[in-house]
Amino acid sequence: MDMFRIQGGRPLNGLVRLDGSKNASLPAMAAGLAIPGGLILRNVPALLDVETMSQLLTSMHVEVQQPRGGEVHIVAGRHTNGVATYELVRQMRASVCVLGPLLGRFGRATVSLPGGCNIGHRPIDLHLQGLAALGADIRLSGGYVTARARRLRGAEIDLGGPFGPTVTGTCNLMMAAVLAHGNTRIRNAAREPEIVDLAALLTKAGGRISGAGTSVIEIEGVESLSDSAVDHTVIPDRIEAGTFVIAGLITTGQLLIPDAPLESLTAFLELLQHMGADISCEAGILRVRGGKRLRSASFTAQPFPGIPTDLQAQLMALLALSEGVSEITDAVFPDRFMHAAELVRLGADIRVFGNTARVQGVRELHGAPVMACDLRASAALVLAALAANGETEIRRVYHLDRGYQGFDVKLSRLGAIVERIQDTPEPSRPLIPPPHFDVDRKSPQPPVAANSEKPANSTESTL
Ligand code: EPZ
Repeated sequence: MDMFRIQGGRPLNGLVRLDGSKNASLPAMAAGLAIPGGLILRNVPALLDVETMSQLLTSMHVEVQQPRGGEVHIVAGRHTNGVATYELVRQMRASVCVLGPLLGRFGRATVSLPGGCNIGHRPIDLHLQGLAALGADIRLSGGYVTARARRLRGAEIDLGGPFGPTVTGTCNLMMAAVLAHGNTRIRNAAREPEIVDLAALLTKAGGRISGAGTSVIEIEGVESLSDSAVDHTVIPDRIEAGTFVIAGLITTGQLLIPDAPLESLTAFLELLQHMGADISCEAGILRVRGGKRLRSASFTAQPFPGIPTDLQAQLMALLALSEGVSEITDAVFPDRFMHAAELVRLGADIRVFGNTARVQGVRELHGAPVMACDLRASAALVLAALAANGETEIRRVYHLDRGYQGFDVKLSRLGAIVERIQDTPEPSRPLIPPPHFDVDRKSPQPPVAANSEKPANSTESTL
């Protein structure tokens, strides 16, 4: 496994180009299952998750080619088998997005339940309820969902849940309903830009969809999607954009970010401006000027168009160095705070009370060994390490590689000192022999060091 060794305290300066959106690319690749003529995707980022989705589709006897950087060509023929195994699904939850297109086009799917996740309990009950409403026969057995439908039929579906609409659930149901017999209305649909991008792709393929980006999506089912190849370019990654905005601010550098999807970052940018951040947009280029210490700010991560939960950890890293007290809650994943303890290791003053993290801004952070636990938490640790004094080692950066293309390379080009090195195997803890008791039952003596007359942990004073 790789790890990063970062020398902090250096401002980042320069221009950084965004890659395509991970969270638009993954459902888009699944949509290739529904298009008989095939799908050409452009601006697809080179990520572990994209590779996993490619492996999943290939395991279904789908033809997946990546002829050149950023391009993925997908052709799902009649011999496609609709089985998504646990081995692949457990690596990437978005694998469940194959359910809808498989049911819509082939009438059958066997997909592993995704299992647990570090950022919270992430069921797919709303996905399954929606597919059942469309007429699918859904059975759960042995950790798998088996779904069958002679022909899906249009329905009224409500995706409202206690934690807000479901993004991949909305994707799944759009890809199913677009091939159902009759009309479908999805209420409480997710409004994320990635939904709009998928709807645009499906429309190019002959789907009839309106309302994507609002909470009510209307779909008029068609018999089949395009018999000729559909060509679609994936939107830029708004979460990568937000991550680099914070990188510029937290290192007090100056960054230029061309083609940043500003309209999908409104709430996030408003929060930063409230904190006193110097951010402007000139000729379509986002300019970030770090420098003065920012003010604290409290926020709740929400479904779009609110502040994205996928930028919550990165904002926590920035607030850790801001002036004053900030309170962070996450309405989407209430327990998404595993990064807090690692930031504390770097000197942050953060306490988590239930579903709220209380951040007391400190003047500086200090390098230390830390461990990544999920994709966006690892980005937050990198940002904090870039701002910290001294050296930080971040283990398990494979989490980062799932969602950021060449993050270390991009940061190095901006002036950061980031080494990607092979992680030394975590030292196996030396077995400390249990204390030995002498015959008269005195208090246990500490183990005697191999080369010392004194007990291993003796002090000058007697025990
Ligand atoms: C998508 O995950 C994103 N992933 C996540 O990004 C993102 O954090 C999340 O949406 C929220 O914006 C992709 O798009 C591939 P949800 P998704 O279904 O669709 C509950 C990243 O870092 N829920 O919108 O799986 C769920 O527990 C990743 O790039 C149900 O209760 O998330 C959560 O609390 C992390 N039942 C809330 O809804 C369901 O059937 C939102 O989940 C489905 C979801």
